[in-house]
Formats: sequence, structure tokens, C-alpha cells
Amino acid sequence: MQTILVTGGAGYIGSHACVELLQAGFKVVVVDNFSNSKPESLVRVQKITGLSPTLYQADIRDKQALSDIFAKENIDAVIHFAGLKSVGESCSDPLNYYNNNVYGTLVLLEAMNEANVKNLIFSSSATVYKESTINQYAEDFPLGSINPYGRSKLMIEEILRDVSTADKINQSATPWKIVLLRYFNPIGAHESGMIGEDPNGIPNNLLPYVSQVAIGKLAQLSVWGDDYPTRDGTGVRDYIHVVDLVKGHIKAIDALDAEQFKNGACKAYNLGTGTGYSVLEIINTFEKVTARPVNYKIAPRRAGDLAECFANPALALAELHWQTEKNLDDMLADAWRWQSNNPNGYE
Ligand SMILES: NC(=O)c1ccc[n+]([C@@H]2O[C@H](COP(=O)([O-])OP(=O)(O)OC[C@H]3O[C@@H](n4cnc5c(N)ncnc54)[C@H](O)[C@@H]3O)[C@@H](O)[C@H]2O)c1
Repeated sequence: MQTILVTGGAGYIGSHACVELLQAGFKVVVVDNFSNSKPESLVRVQKITGLSPTLYQADIRDKQALSDIFAKENIDAVIHFAGLKSVGESCSDPLNYYNNNVYGTLVLLEAMNEANVKNLIFSSSATVYKESTINQYAEDFPLGSINPYGRSKLMIEEILRDVSTADKINQSATPWKIVLLRYFNPIGAHESGMIGEDPNGIPNNLLPYVSQVAIGKLAQLSVWGDDYPTRDGTGVRDYIHVVDLVKGHIKAIDALDAEQFKNGACKAYNLGTGTGYSVLEIINTFEKVTARPVNYKIAPRRAGDLAECFANPALALAELHWQTEKNLDDMLADAWRWQSNNPNGYE
């Protein structure tokens, strides 16, 4: 049985990853400082699976804590979700973002190196791509981000590419095997309705916002711009069901044994459906699937928003043998089940 260390395992995506990993027969060790999550999410993971991850409440910047975990647990690979993720907050507090995301990853890499654990799956993001007029992004597109959050992800990607390149110079006996997974827009929740996205305060992302308007916690959704060159004028994004997304991580772990990683490598893969939906399509489909009205207004465009952005997921299909299984109705029905069963999240 392989043991996976999941950093940020109590968070939105991390908790869903714990469920899929445990159900796939992995032993799971979680490290989380609960800066953006609650221990209750892992209680729910246990309720869904009948299995418990081993939990360490620690900050990934605490080198001693990480070294102790590696000494105690027989870790085979690390899935690294821990990080701060709000674009807006990263603009007002960049030092905190670089410290938590970039420095935190450096400390993790040092601890992994010392423990000779060199299998890593990293949560990257579509925000690492440079803005382009071609809306469907492939992994070899130019990189460049326009905000500190995106730049922290891009810096980490560059560090990981350097670490992998150094293996060839050093002729390392155990080379790094690193998978960079560039997520598009994860939404939805586990079909049990027991775990889901539980943002602190006012949500930054579209789906939790829509759900909270539908349940009456928020009065109105603002649709930022209806004059983009898209089919209905609103922004188009590639939404991916969080369970499909985390299954991509298990495929990535499997791929570490495949030919392309045999001598070590650092490779990026898009995790998206390849299909874009507009904000109005999301609202209309949400209303259809849940039979709940969503009160919204059209507001001016927001600086920095792209008209359209969706994945080319062909490489993940070819090399990770992964593709999405769930459709937009599933994503929205599952998001609503989580929200309506848990109006106040995990509280
Ligand atoms: N949700 C998205 O839309 C999205 C999109 C692209 C990439 N990502 C990336 O995926 C990862 C997971 O995202 P999420 O949506 O689950 O976020 P989340 O905030 O729900 O989960 C992150 C978890 O990491 C923990 N954490 C943060 N800093 C830590 C530290 N220094 N030490 C220990 N634990 C720490 C938090 O407490 C939280 O449980 C993040 O790295 C994020 O940047 C998310």
C-alpha cells in the first residue's frame, strides 16, 4: 500500500482528494494548519469512506514538523495543495502570498529531499498562462501571470523545473518525479453532499457565490461584464467537477511509474474539460438543475478578467489516461446539495 502525504488535505480540493485516495486503497497522511479550513472536513471524509487519514496539524513552513512527519511515516509521494489562493488578497498582501506559497514549498522540498522522497504532484493553475487571443490553452503556451497569486504558482513551477534539471547535472540516484497539474475552474462537491467548498466570508469564486445567493445568504450576484466577444457577452471559463479533478491526481501518481517519468522529469498537464461555459449559462443551468432562482445584475467588467479561457486537455488524456466524466448538471447539482445540506458550511 502506498502512503501519500497530502498538504492542505483539509481544504476544498484536498478533502475530496483524501476521499478518492482512501477509496482507491492509499494510506493518507494530511498536514494542514487550518488557516483556511476546519478539522470537521476530515471528520466528514471519515464518515464517507469509513477510513481515517492520519492528521498532523502543522504549517508547511515548519521544517522540523515536516521532518518529523517524514521520519515517522513511510511516505511514497506528496500531493501539495497547501497554499493561499485568493487573487484579490494576493494583490493587497503579496508578502504573505509569496511567504506561504513559495517559501512554504521550498521548506517542503527541503524536507522531501532530506527524506529522499522525490515524487511530487503540485497544484498549479491555469493562471500561469500568459494572456492570449487563442482561448484554448495547451501546456506549451507561453507562461506569465498578472497577479501575485499567479506569479507565486509560476515561481514554484520554475523552481520545480530547476530541481528536476539539477538531477541530470548531479546524476542523482533517485531523480525527482514531478507532475504540475494546472487546474482550470474546480467546482461542485462530493455527491454525498457531506464535503464541499466552505469559503471564509464573501466567496471569491462564482459557484459558491451563486449557491449562497440561491440559499438567501447573499442578496445578489454581480455578473462582471456582458460585452465580451463571447456567445452571450459574459466571460467563458472551463469548469471542472472537483471529483474529476482529484481523480486526475491519482492518475498522476500512477503515471510516475510510466516510461516518461522513468529517469525523472517535471511535466505539466492541464486539468480541465476542454469546454467553456459562460456566466449566464452557469446561472441558467443552476436554476434549471436546482429549481432555485438566482438574483443577479450586470455590472461593469473587472480589470484583469479574460473574455474566454478553457483547457486543451489532450496531453492529460494521452499521458495520464485521464478525462473528465461529469457534466455541468452534475457539477451544479452536487454544489447545491452541499450548500443546501450545509447552509453554514462546516460550522
Ligand atoms: N480552488 C481553485 O479554484 C483552485 C484553482 C487552481 C489552483 N488551486 C490550488 O489548489 C490548491 C488547493 O486549493 P483549495 O481550493 O482546496 O484551497 P483551500 O484553501 O480550500 O485549501 C488549502 C488548504 O491548505 C491549508 N494551508 C494553507 N497554507 C498552509 C500552510 N502554510 N501550512 C499548512 N497548511 C496550509 C489551508 O488551511 C487549507 O486547508 C491551492 O494550492 C490552490 O492555489 C485552486
